[in-house]
Amino acid sequence: MESRRHSRSSFIATRASSVCRLLSLRLLLLHLPLCLAPWLHSASCRSLLQEGDAAVDTIAMVTPDADAALAREALQLRFNSFVQRYGKVYSSPEEHAYRMEVFKENLRLIEESNNYETYELEVTEFTDLTWEEFQKHFLGAKQDCSATTGSYVRRLGNPTLPARRDWREEGIVSPVKNQGHCGSCWTFSTTGGLEAAHAQATGSMVLLSEQQLLDCAGGFDNLGCSGGLPSHAYEYIIYAGGLDTEEAYPYKAKSEKCHFNPNAIGAKVFDVVNITEGAEDDILEAVALVQPVTVAFQVVDGFRFYKSGVYSSPTCKSGPETVNHAVLAVGYDVDKESGTPYWIIKNSWGPNWGNHGYFYIERNKNMCGIAACASYPVVTKGAAQSA
Ligand SMILES: *[C@@H]1O[C@H](CO)[C@@H](O)[C@H](O)[C@H]1NC(C)=O
Repeated sequence: MESRRHSRSSFIATRASSVCRLLSLRLLLLHLPLCLAPWLHSASCRSLLQEGDAAVDTIAMVTPDADAALAREALQLRFNSFVQRYGKVYSSPEEHAYRMEVFKENLRLIEESNNYETYELEVTEFTDLTWEEFQKHFLGAKQDCSATTGSYVRRLGNPTLPARRDWREEGIVSPVKNQGHCGSCWTFSTTGGLEAAHAQATGSMVLLSEQQLLDCAGGFDNLGCSGGLPSHAYEYIIYAGGLDTEEAYPYKAKSEKCHFNPNAIGAKVFDVVNITEGAEDDILEAVALVQPVTVAFQVVDGFRFYKSGVYSSPTCKSGPETVNHAVLAVGYDVDKESGTPYWIIKNSWGPNWGNHGYFYIERNKNMCGIAACASYPVVTKGAAQSA
């Protein structure tokens, strides 16, 4: 470490002026806090930083070596600000260095994608994880969810659907939650759908327990932090007699022993409606006229860095056997510029991820299997198949 510092400072001494000029320009361009690097505090460097503008003509003087060193400095600054922003703690200097390498690779993916895609990616809290690690800690195992023949019944007379719908505007969508390091997306998709249905039916927003589903719904083919299906979770809630409130049975991001309390039930499910595999028109009608609908899709690498725009992917698959993430469709719309129709989807990676915790994904193409596995809960007897 000492010797590395030494050689670095002598390297810097020899190239101080051109490096400083170029770096000051780059830092200005990157909007990074200036003078974080200790050697920038040297008086000569500072004055060069103040000059700022004369930097352009020095670019030609910089050797490839210096250029690489500059890229390294810029990466280090970006990584440091990432570490600070997300409160990352690494166990050793080696781990720190490794995470910076992973960060660098992901940064490349993000920048490349932003160069040619219409949607935008950004650095998120997942940027120091490899795709393998992310899959392991945040996605469920692939599950065959084939709701081959659904029980959703289209309304008579093909009613005209509104051009757009956003259930958030009706006040029945609960705040975005965060599943943490656990493949429990299915529990959040389930509670989100039930919270909305319950609020719609009763007029009161009650937050519901994901942990009860994690701990107690194993008998319905659910696997705790390794994945599960909302439709099976709704079956479980019918069987159990209800779902506790979030407050009574709070989320721990790991499976524990079931301690369901029938006296703390926040909502009940009367029936569950499956939408036939691939019937995206049925999902549209349900979201337009009934309520938010739980959907699943295949997350592929890159998606975890989503920032804004209508997401689509040429690599994700669309079958019911490849979906690995359950979420909640709370509305739909059409992109004004491109005319692309999209779903408005609530995710469970916290409110700081993506578009305030939400994302848009292309509609009408069964994009990433979004129409493979849709269902919603019915909370009152009268509402079942209500038309
Ligand atoms: C609903 O769909 C699930 C898969 O998501 C399936 O396992 C279940 O059997 C279906 N239920 C009905 C009543 O068809």
